[in-house]
Amino acid sequence: MHHSQTIPHLPGIDSTRAFLSEGYPFISRRCDELGSDAFRTRLMLRPVTFLRGPDAVRGFYRAGRMTRRGAMPPTVVPLLQGKGSVQSLDGAEHQVRKKMFLDLMAPVRLQQARQIFAEEWQAAAGSWRGREIDLSDAVDGIMTRTALRWCGIDPGQHDVASRSRELSTMFAEAGALGPAYLQARWLRARCERWARSLIAETREVDGPAGSTLGKLAFHTDLDGRRMNEDVAAKELLNILRPIVAVGRYVVFAAHALHVQRAAIHAMTEDDEHISRAIAEEVRRLYPFFPAIGGRVREAFDWHGARFEPGDWLVLDLYGTNHDPKTWDDAESFCPERHLGRDRQPEGLVPQGGGDYLQNHRCPGEWLTTELLTEAVMQLRKLDWTLPEQNLSLPENQFPPLPEGGLRVAVSPN
Ligand code: HEM
Repeated sequence: MHHSQTIPHLPGIDSTRAFLSEGYPFISRRCDELGSDAFRTRLMLRPVTFLRGPDAVRGFYRAGRMTRRGAMPPTVVPLLQGKGSVQSLDGAEHQVRKKMFLDLMAPVRLQQARQIFAEEWQAAAGSWRGREIDLSDAVDGIMTRTALRWCGIDPGQHDVASRSRELSTMFAEAGALGPAYLQARWLRARCERWARSLIAETREVDGPAGSTLGKLAFHTDLDGRRMNEDVAAKELLNILRPIVAVGRYVVFAAHALHVQRAAIHAMTEDDEHISRAIAEEVRRLYPFFPAIGGRVREAFDWHGARFEPGDWLVLDLYGTNHDPKTWDDAESFCPERHLGRDRQPEGLVPQGGGDYLQNHRCPGEWLTTELLTEAVMQLRKLDWTLPEQNLSLPENQFPPLPEGGLRVAVSPN
């Protein structure tokens, strides 16, 4: 027997049902009950170890230790990752591909994204005056146009409404089963066809190499070859889709500006600093990726427990962001905690942890923070209120949205 007894077993045969019905707090609750930041159970009848906290982040994200292959539910993979894409690669192959993504995130390009977003927001907000809008719906369009323009794709030449529906459905329905899931798969297939034709066209006309689309089309992998059309298209969607997903954080930011206005009004810093701190606290506290799964590649010991190749581990991202041992007053919305810090704390992992290049940590993290900071600034400039509505966010929807979106009444002036 190679598993040490230091990690407790959860009573019961399988935790799939409890995880899906309790949602985000499931792992933390069990950790609290067992008095342990790790426990063993089964998910979909497969043995799994759940982990939370900064120490678990360090263990899980040690370079070379884990692979993402075979670590996510088979229904989620085609919607969020795509075979042959960066998430499925390991070692040197992964690093060469990952560098392409990280090269897109130079400060000047992040500023460009922010500028494009501000323009798209202004253009859309012009038509909101004196009306009640569904912010979630409005933001999908803004984010899709922002994503296309940032990639060097002219929204005027494409069917933005269809792309917006496809891209938003991919992340919104990743946790779904049944007809909603099949519909999402169908929309994804349609979007992939569109992305493949864009890659092919870009290669035919030999440019523009400087744009995101161009960089993707002409990137060479470790083997010195270009990605095949199918993989390049998937990587394009791996940029467009999550930019649209940032829109969900924009909705959460509006939710926070309303629900947490007392905490925010007390802040006295300049607008940029306040907005950035709010953006960071939204990323910490609001639910998005509940957890990330990995399979062990190289055996290792963690606090006296032994993990062998093939073992399945699931790191609790949400629970680490909410960990009472890591965060003072962990459940309170307190943007001040992010003021004046020069690096991201190890316990802030809404987009994964560890090293960006050597690991699978999200390369879009800086872009997310920039776009969200700009969104908070724009929301703070706009005169709006929330009409009476149910603002609760279901804990077992990945990611959640208030029932019927977020209705926002924008003042006529
Ligand atoms: C709503 C905002 C976002 C959230 C919550 C998010 C979250 C995540 C998470 C949890 C991972 C997996 C980390 C791991 O496997 O250890 C990831 C990976 C990834 N994200 Fe994001 N992300 C967001 C925005 C973005 C943006 C804006 C981009 C690109 C423009 C992006 C591109 C990617 C890519 C390419 C990967 C795979 C990286 C790899 O396997 O090395 N994401 N993201």
